[in-house]
Amino acid sequence: MDRIRIVGGNELNGVIPISGAKNAALPLMIASLLTSDTLTLENVPHLADVELLLRILGNHGVDVSVNGRRERQGEGYSRTIHFTCRTIVDTTAPYELVSKMRASFWVIGPLLAREGRARVSLPGGCAIGTRPVDLFIEGLTALGATMEIDSGYINATAPKGGLIGGTYTFPKVSVGATHVMLMAASLARGTTVINYAAREPEVVDLAYCLNAMGAKISGAGTSTITIEGVHSLSGARHRVLPDRIETGTSAMAVAMTGGDVTLEGTDFALLDTPLDAVRRAGAEITVTPSGLRVVGHGHAIRPVDVVTEPYPGFPTDLQAQFMGLMTRANGVSHVTETIFENRFMHVQELARLGARITLSGQTARIEGVTRLRGAPVMATDLRASVSLVIAGLAAEGETTVSRVYHLDRGFERLEEKLTRCGAVVERITD
Ligand code: UD1
Repeated sequence: MDRIRIVGGNELNGVIPISGAKNAALPLMIASLLTSDTLTLENVPHLADVELLLRILGNHGVDVSVNGRRERQGEGYSRTIHFTCRTIVDTTAPYELVSKMRASFWVIGPLLAREGRARVSLPGGCAIGTRPVDLFIEGLTALGATMEIDSGYINATAPKGGLIGGTYTFPKVSVGATHVMLMAASLARGTTVINYAAREPEVVDLAYCLNAMGAKISGAGTSTITIEGVHSLSGARHRVLPDRIETGTSAMAVAMTGGDVTLEGTDFALLDTPLDAVRRAGAEITVTPSGLRVVGHGHAIRPVDVVTEPYPGFPTDLQAQFMGLMTRANGVSHVTETIFENRFMHVQELARLGARITLSGQTARIEGVTRLRGAPVMATDLRASVSLVIAGLAAEGETTVSRVYHLDRGFERLEEKLTRCGAVVERITD
């Protein structure tokens, strides 16, 4: 199993090209199930989760062709991929595939909307909480579907003639369930209104792409989204938006190690809340014509309290990385997690590097230390794993991060990007 070895202590200087967003690419790829025409997506990151979803979509009948030449965006390597699903050949998404990535459960929306039925395994994914699917069941039921659980699968059936527009008010914000409602309601008869919808940029990106395919969605990016159902959708060409989690992670790394890095091809507006927290911690962040410039000092990091919230609040996907940054602050900070109940598994690993963190319920109290010392640590989930990498970059001596398959799910060419900025990072394959 691969490990990453880091020798900490170097500043980061140079350019980090930001890849297309994993969390936008996945629902956009799934949207290809809604049409028999070709959906072309540009700027698709090369990640384990994307490769797995390609396999899953292939099972349903999606024909995939990847541009022979790699698209070169700055120094990035995201690709253009064409998806064509002339007919859906299988409406079952099996446990073996869905259990590996929670987002693959989202195929339930397009399968149900286009074929009138779907049998989808209950999901797996990162071990960061119970992550139920009740909101998907309630939402699709509001569109007239019958949803039954049977032997670990959900059997979803649309009424004769297809799904029917309806009104659904989410009791809590769910990104995935909002994606699924957008896709399902686009092909329903009549108008659907979703209240308390997720406002994440990735939801807006999906709505934008669906509209380019002929859907009639308004209000994406606000809490109320209206979808006027259409009879069919066509193909389109769409560019995946930049990854705000990779952007924030990179900014936090520079704030921690010190240095001067341009984050190329990204957009401040996608993540002003977390970038504001990084600024308050002491880094300088400016908008440049090509993206963002981050200047970090690596010392005199100021303590900042954050609470994770749905967008536009501080993202849960940057919580572990920000905690990493706070381990070196000159004072006490607090990080409160409100989205997932079990998302502090990185705390014990950061402690192995010398961090002083105590947990009380959903809040971590971090007492900054002047230095971290390298140690062997273990990645526990996707975002936690990268917090260990950035802490390792700022630690004295050698850190090895094992179970890096978590990292490969969501960060494209991480070692290469960091190495080009002066970090000592290498992958060890045993
Ligand atoms: C997406 C992101 C993930 C991010 C999360 C929150 C992708 C591929 N993943 O995950 O990186 O951390 O948003 O920003 O885009 N919930 C229920 N019932 C449901 C569905 C969700 O109770 O039916 C709960 C979850 O357990 C969690 C909360 O709602 O506590 C938010 O989850 P959700 O927004 O659905 O996360 P994902 O879409 O899975």
